[in-house]
This record gives sequence, structure tokens and C-alpha cells, in this order.
Amino acid sequence: MPRQLPNRSHFHHRTLPYLKAPSLCTFHTSHSIITLHSSAMVLTMATGQEDSLLLLLLPTTSPLPPLMAVFILAAVLLWLSPGGPAWALSRCRRPPSGPTGVVTALSSPVAHRTLAALSHAVDGGKALMAFSVGLTRLVVSSQPDTAREILVNPAFSDRPIKDAARHLLFHRAMGFAPSGDAHWRGLRRLAANHLFGPRRVAAAAHHRVSIGEAMVADVAAAMARHGEVSLKRVLHIASLNHIMATVFGKHYDMDSQEGVLLEEMVTEGYDLLGTFNWADHLPLIKHLDLQGVRRRCNRLVQKVEVFVGKIIQEHRARRANGGVDDEYMGDFVDVLLDLEGEEKLSESDMIAVLWVRSIEFRNVCCVTKMHVLSDLKRYVHGKISGRFCFDQEMIFRGADTVAILMEWIMARMALHPEIQSKAQAELDGVVVGGVADADVGNLPYIQCIVKETLRMHPPGPLLSWARLAIHDAHVGGHLVPAGTTAMVNMWSIAHDPAIWAEPEKFRPERFQEEDVSVLGSDLRLAPFGAGRRVCPGKMLALATTHLWIAQLLHEFEWAPAAANGGVDLSERLNMSLEMATPLVCKAVPRAQLA
Ligand code: HEM
Repeated sequence: MPRQLPNRSHFHHRTLPYLKAPSLCTFHTSHSIITLHSSAMVLTMATGQEDSLLLLLLPTTSPLPPLMAVFILAAVLLWLSPGGPAWALSRCRRPPSGPTGVVTALSSPVAHRTLAALSHAVDGGKALMAFSVGLTRLVVSSQPDTAREILVNPAFSDRPIKDAARHLLFHRAMGFAPSGDAHWRGLRRLAANHLFGPRRVAAAAHHRVSIGEAMVADVAAAMARHGEVSLKRVLHIASLNHIMATVFGKHYDMDSQEGVLLEEMVTEGYDLLGTFNWADHLPLIKHLDLQGVRRRCNRLVQKVEVFVGKIIQEHRARRANGGVDDEYMGDFVDVLLDLEGEEKLSESDMIAVLWVRSIEFRNVCCVTKMHVLSDLKRYVHGKISGRFCFDQEMIFRGADTVAILMEWIMARMALHPEIQSKAQAELDGVVVGGVADADVGNLPYIQCIVKETLRMHPPGPLLSWARLAIHDAHVGGHLVPAGTTAMVNMWSIAHDPAIWAEPEKFRPERFQEEDVSVLGSDLRLAPFGAGRRVCPGKMLALATTHLWIAQLLHEFEWAPAAANGGVDLSERLNMSLEMATPLVCKAVPRAQLA
């Protein structure tokens, strides 16, 4: 008969129960039940929420060869060091406190919650907690002061590059390029000047309004057909179309073959970047591709090459037929095709640059265009010089984060009819006819709703992409050695009762009572990050979200479709924090209710 060992909760934190097991025995960890054979010794320890498990199966009958004994002892000591083996192997003698062993929380669909619980369980862990994932050394901050020390410190202005990102050639993209690189500075400057600056965001208002109107029509059509609307797809299509219109000057019919392919590519890329890949943390298995991530990346890269290549061909054909009559109004593809002589790009470079940069350059005026051309020349010949790379980050980042945030906002609207009515009353007092972009500035309550949703459901609860220490730094008085990955648990900060009164309550009014900026200056709520690598698309994201939410609320009364009137708020952390159960609503035209 197997012998039942005590459940992990019986073990004291960081103790090392030692057991000699003469016969078959079984015990439980958080994920598995482990059965041991006779003549074996078991060592196990509990580390708060996440168990670290060490099994050493040592023959008890014969003495250990000395070398093996030393090896085992060393392994035990590494495992038991605060922060786990990766910290023990570092030259840091007094790391921040943290759980022993290897923490597997990052592969969890609620990693932000698991890390928050761990940080609270560890002494001083809220300010800074050290932990190991495989051989990767990490720290996480769950407190505004240490979060600021990480985000605004130039020592943390690089990002660790995941294997998938490298294979999708993202390492040349703005989100991953090293901050010391002129290439990254150039991308940031161009993004600020040509894409995300206030003038550019205002100039794209007509796009936002018309895509929002199309979204309203899609909701009405879904209601007419099914009597309910699944918002995820409607929002995703609107966001994708918005970004693609900016990138390629083109609208996609998402039911067409091309549209379906585009959506598939984005979804696949998103999934690949969001997948927790052990190869990122265990160098020995890197080349084995056990999870098939590299294989999938290579397949996706091929598809993207064909897709973007086709867009270039279309532009070439249009130009051959005299299609570009206003030389100043061509889109970014035309800017590239205008390059002549030694500046002329190969097809693969053009795909690369187009994918990377197209957003920034769309419809630039003559003067800007000259500036862009010289930047482009430097970029292409000085930086990538014939190497193929491409970048889907704008599409991934822009499309999905906005769609995901909007789904959470609409879930909250369906759940809280009184808040919805208040927002609609505000709209009725401001809007004449249809919602215009200029109305958004006069809708402070709707802006508070967006802030409160960013607090409760931040799309990047761990600020999506972590930072990497490029040299030694100090955070909260602790040395953080170069090469450490640093994360900020914004979800934990935004749910901390020491910072927010009744943090679990959805209450937009809190932002009427106190004006809190979400743009990165106040680390109590910085859903777009802060410092040099703060999200460059934050103004565009907010402008789009405010407008589209206003359009949806102005047009319809929203209620949950489920018979019990509930909305499932379960979370799933992929690359962003999504609703685990897609939101399905009933949307009744308000005109019908009046
Ligand atoms: C609700 C919408 C969005 C949220 C919550 C969000 C959030 C974030 C966060 C937390 C970061 C990391 C910041 C840091 O490390 O300090 C980031 C970076 C970034 N975001 Fe956004 N974002 C959103 C929308 C957008 C949009 C619309 C775009 C572009 C079209 C965009 C493009 C980027 C890029 C390129 C980076 C990397 C910047 C760099 O590393 O230099 N984001 N975003």
C-alpha cells in the first residue's frame, strides 16, 4: 500500500523535511502527485504559493561516491538559496528576499496574481522580490517607489529577447532593440514625430470615427442575425483595420481570404510571443525546440513575406498605370518605391522596412517626406545593410491591446447598468448627431471609466515586456546585477488596498475625486509603463478607446446575454490580459428605447 505523506501545506515555509522512505510512498505538490520507490530519500520544501520540489533519489544501502555527494550537496544548496539557483550562481551575495527553487508562475494564465501572492508572502517582497525561472535571474517590484526605480533607470532600458521574438525577427523592432542603439533611438524619434505625436493622432480622427461607425453597424448586424453579439471579434476586427489603414493605407474585409489570412497571422504571432517557452530559461534545451516555437515562427515569417510582398507588387502595378497622381499623398509603400539609385531597396529590405516603419510615414507631407527619406536612407544602409528583418509589433501591439481593453470596458458596462446610464447621460448632454472626435474632451466620466478599467484590468499586468539590467544597479537598496530581468507587477500595485480604497470595487468616481495620470508620471497607475521605454502608442490608444466606447454607448444599451445576467470576469494572461470567456452581450438601440 502506498504511504500518504503530508500535504505541502503541512510543511513550514523554507524548511526541509527529510524523509527516509523504505517503501512505496506518495505525496502531493500543487501540480502533481509523486510516487517514490523504496530505498529512496526525499527532500521537499514549500515556498508559499508555488512549491519548489527537489527530489533526490539516493541509494540508502551503499555509501555515496564522494564526487556525487558533493554534487548533490551543491545542487541542494543552490536550490535552497533565497531567490533560487539563478541567484545563487550570481555574484550577488545578498540578493533581495525571494522564494527558493524554480518558480513556475510565469507559465500560469494568472501569473500576475501568483506573483502578487508570492511577493506578499515573502518578507520585503512587495518592494522587490528575487526569483529564478530555470537559469534566468529575475526581480519583480509590486510597489510604486521601486517600480519607478526600475522603469526610469537607464540601467533597465533594454529588454530580454525571447527566442520567439528573435525568430520572428522582432529584435530589430522598437520593442526589443537595445536602447543604446542609434537604431532604437531613430525608431522612437520617428514614431514620436510621424505617428504618435498629438498632431498625428488628431489628423487620424476621421479614420477612427469611420471605423467606429463600421463597428456600430457590425454590432447592429450581429444583433439582427443572432439576437446577441460576441464583442471580441467585432473589436478585434475594428482595431486591426484601424492599424492596417494606418500602415498600408488599406481597408481589409475580414471575411475575404486576405482578411482571414491577416487575422490568422496576427493571432499566430501573438500566440507565439505570449507562449511561455522553457527554452528561454534553460540554455541546454534551447536548440531542441521541444515546444515547436521555432518551427511555428519560421512558418509565420514565410507567410508574412508573401503577404507584404504582394502589397508591394500591388503598389508597383498601380504606379505603372499612373495610379499615384499626387506625389505628396502616397502611403508609405510609395515612399519606399520612390527611392532611386543607390538608395533603391531590394525586395526583402523593402518588406522589412515596410513592416517596421509603415505606420510612421503614412501620408506624410512633402517636407516631412524629405526628412523621412534621409532617415530611411541612414536606417537602411547604415543599420540593416541587406539583412532581412521585419516587424509586426505595431500591428500586434496596437490592435490587440486596444481590443482587449475595450472588451473589459464593455464587460464592466454590462455588469454595472448604473455606471452605463451615467455615461450615457453625459453623452446625451454633449453629442449632437453622431459622436465626433472633438466630443471626447468633453466626456470626463467616460475617461474615468477607461482609467478605472485600466486599473482593474490592465492589458499588460506585468507591463507586457520586461526590462533587462544592462549594468549593475540598485533597487530598493539591493544590488541587482547586470543581466537580471526586472519586472513591475502593475496589477498588484493597482489592487493594493494600501494604495487604493476598496481596490476590488469598480468605481470610476475615484478618478473624479482625485485626478491620477495614467501616462507614466504616477506609478500608482502606469498601465503604459514609464521612462524611456514607455508605450509610444499611449495617446493613440487612449484617443481610440475613448471615441469607440463613446460611440458604442451612445448607440446601444448594453446587457449581458447570459440568462443569469452575469459576466464571467475570469482572466487569461497571454501576451496581454484577456477575458478567459469571451464577452457576449445584448445591444439594444437606444433610439428604440426612447
Ligand atoms: C491600451 C493600449 C495599450 C497599452 C495598455 C500598452 C501598454 C504598453 C506597455 C506597458 C509597454 C511597455 C512600457 C515599458 O516598458 O515601460 C508598451 C510598449 C510599447 N507599446 Fe504599447 N500599449 C498600448 C497600445 C499601443 C499602441 C496602440 C501601439 C502602437 C500602435 C503600441 C506600441 C508599443 C510599442 C512599439 C512598445 C515598445 C516601446 C519600446 O520598447 O521602446 N502600444 N505598451
